[in-house]
Amino acid sequence: MNWRQRIYCGDLTPSHVDKEVLLMGWVDAIRDHGSLLFIHLRDVRGLVQVVFNPALNAKIYESASSLKEEYVVQVRGKVALREMGTENPNLRTGSIEVFALDLEILSLSRVLPFKISEKAIVFGEDILANPEKVDEDLRLQYRYLDLRRPSAQEFFLKRYEIMKCIRQYLDELHFTEVETPFLTRSTPEGARDYLVPSRIHRGKFYSLPQSPQLFKQLLMMSGMDRYFQIARCFRDEDLRPNRQPEFTQLDLEASFIDEEFIYEVVEELTARMFATGGIDLPRPFPRMAYEEAMERYGSDRPDLRFGLAFEDLTDDLRSTGYSVFRQIIEGGGVIKGFCIKGMASALSKNLLQNEYAMKIAPSFGAGGMTWMKVLNGGLESNIVQFFTAHEQEALKNRLRAGDGDVLILVADLSRDSVNKVLGSLRLHMAERLGLIPEDRYCPVWITDFPLFELKEEGLSSQHHPFTMPDRTDFSPADQETLLELKSRAYDLVINGEELGGGSIRIHRMDIQKKIFLALRLSEEELESKFGFFLKALQYGAPPHGGLALGLDRVVAMILKASSIREVIAFPKNRSAYCPLSQAPSFVSDSQLRELGLSGAPAEDGSVRTTASHTPWAGRPGEISLDHVRHIAKLARLTLTHEEALSYQKDLNAILQYVETLQEVNTESVKPMSHVLPLTNAWREDEPGECGTSKSLLDNAPMREGNYFKVPKIIET
Ligand code: AMO
Repeated sequence: MNWRQRIYCGDLTPSHVDKEVLLMGWVDAIRDHGSLLFIHLRDVRGLVQVVFNPALNAKIYESASSLKEEYVVQVRGKVALREMGTENPNLRTGSIEVFALDLEILSLSRVLPFKISEKAIVFGEDILANPEKVDEDLRLQYRYLDLRRPSAQEFFLKRYEIMKCIRQYLDELHFTEVETPFLTRSTPEGARDYLVPSRIHRGKFYSLPQSPQLFKQLLMMSGMDRYFQIARCFRDEDLRPNRQPEFTQLDLEASFIDEEFIYEVVEELTARMFATGGIDLPRPFPRMAYEEAMERYGSDRPDLRFGLAFEDLTDDLRSTGYSVFRQIIEGGGVIKGFCIKGMASALSKNLLQNEYAMKIAPSFGAGGMTWMKVLNGGLESNIVQFFTAHEQEALKNRLRAGDGDVLILVADLSRDSVNKVLGSLRLHMAERLGLIPEDRYCPVWITDFPLFELKEEGLSSQHHPFTMPDRTDFSPADQETLLELKSRAYDLVINGEELGGGSIRIHRMDIQKKIFLALRLSEEELESKFGFFLKALQYGAPPHGGLALGLDRVVAMILKASSIREVIAFPKNRSAYCPLSQAPSFVSDSQLRELGLSGAPAEDGSVRTTASHTPWAGRPGEISLDHVRHIAKLARLTLTHEEALSYQKDLNAILQYVETLQEVNTESVKPMSHVLPLTNAWREDEPGECGTSKSLLDNAPMREGNYFKVPKIIET
């Protein structure tokens, strides 16, 4: 292999004209003109057209005639300018071509499961691969082919550039990159852990880290001063489009600093990262307290690319004659709303009443939704007659509404519920009405989160229990004060997506103890969960704080990728499954035995035996999303994610119902009717005449030898 002479296809320019070059790569596309054969040769840097001319070399031309898409070849050839009118502006190398003098086929390819080529050989021809049209599981099953698409490779080249930019900037600030362990104890990020059984310590498990949180704090206690890591994290949680069970964080921590250090460093870093994608982030990043975010946008990750901020209308309607609102206000509830500018004609009464008020708002948990249009200076709606002129004027003023605007109002006894419903309506309507500008980026720091939240089981930390409160003079027994405490935590949000989060940590054991007391964590619990960490806290911990950015989310946003899966080389699908390696998979009994797991009772009490290899085997009694997709595939149905989820829910409900039937004792119940007498009928099978293979295949629509062809679906 003469790799020293090799030149990358995409690096060829008119300066190479008349030179002999050696190219290696994949056959991207082929076009046979009868007298000439053209191929697009592709490597990681781009494509170039190679021409095989029988007049130049008949043997090479003949060999080229056997080429198929994705064969790997080595071509020696001479570069020439293309004839006028045959240039291909789709290619960077579109003004030149290479006349082949020699061809070596290095390896063959089977027929592709989907198209890879993204560039038409003839300018104007439409043969682009369209990944969105290919079933995602199929793409992931053949991810190595999917990644051959130049636009997919571009994502990873850019991702690498962003990682280099991170390393360079943090290096300038004297951060040190340190790796922390994967095989460790549970980390406190609130998701379920992925567990790894230990062979040596029978019956014990390591946890894969949900983040390097405890270790990076230990590094501060070790005097490392400034740490960062591009760290893999593992979380077994409900999947959403922007979540993966294993994902990458840019994790950092620094000593002897406060929030301002983190804001400064992370703002500059984020701006630099986005600049690699040609995006100029507006600076400085504004800050918004959690409470304002919830009250104005109904979300702790507000999308600030558009308005529709909420106003509180309770005071304006305190003595309203509209009984629904009055009762809610008298019961201590609130009425809030937002104004959609100039959308009165886009939002018909029918849409507002029959869709939004009757269906969409209730699906977000609303008891109801009220709408009003501002037309000819007055308000119009199905209930406007219940409001005085003064109230109508007050509503318009409060919401700064004018002619052509639409007002959306929600009332409820719970303020949180009003904010939540309005938050969902705000996003739904903005999307539907096209109010979200595509190329706008609105970063914001969300600050002043409550330190604790009240759950059914009592107080719990909103971030994690090592987050420093805004004041330390509280009593751990005083729940009211505890719920008023703010944390010194911050989230970085861009365009409604939480890209990162962190906090200033507790570095003193006396404060940490008070937090644990407030959380009602027992000594034993603390010792077993964080004993090693708490011990370290007592040997001189510096004040410190940090943050982690979700790198996959950052990269996906910079590259405008449709999902974080596009910027992860080998992601899991929507049901945490890898269609390529088929992980997770069953393991052999001997492996289980070695780990001391064989024969261990399963969750349902049954004794675990050798795992079955049928694709249907999942948690006992449960249909997974994969099962639904598999059935849909066999039935040749295309299901949206929502449809698949809905089928999964229904099927599991049926199975659950069937399970309850098993508990019903029907032994004494006599059959009510029967068409056959209740006796067993035995019959011996008698081998009969089978016929020849020819006669058996006579009716097959397509045959080849002694086989008949079946649709591809059965193959998979
Ligand atoms: P947090 O849990 O907020 O903080 O995570 C930080 C960021 O990681 C990203 N992220 C994810 N990305 C993809 N898939 C997931 N399942 C997933 N979960 C989280 C998000 C998130 O903002 N140890 C703290 C950080 C700190 O306090 O320093 C932590 O992990 O973008």
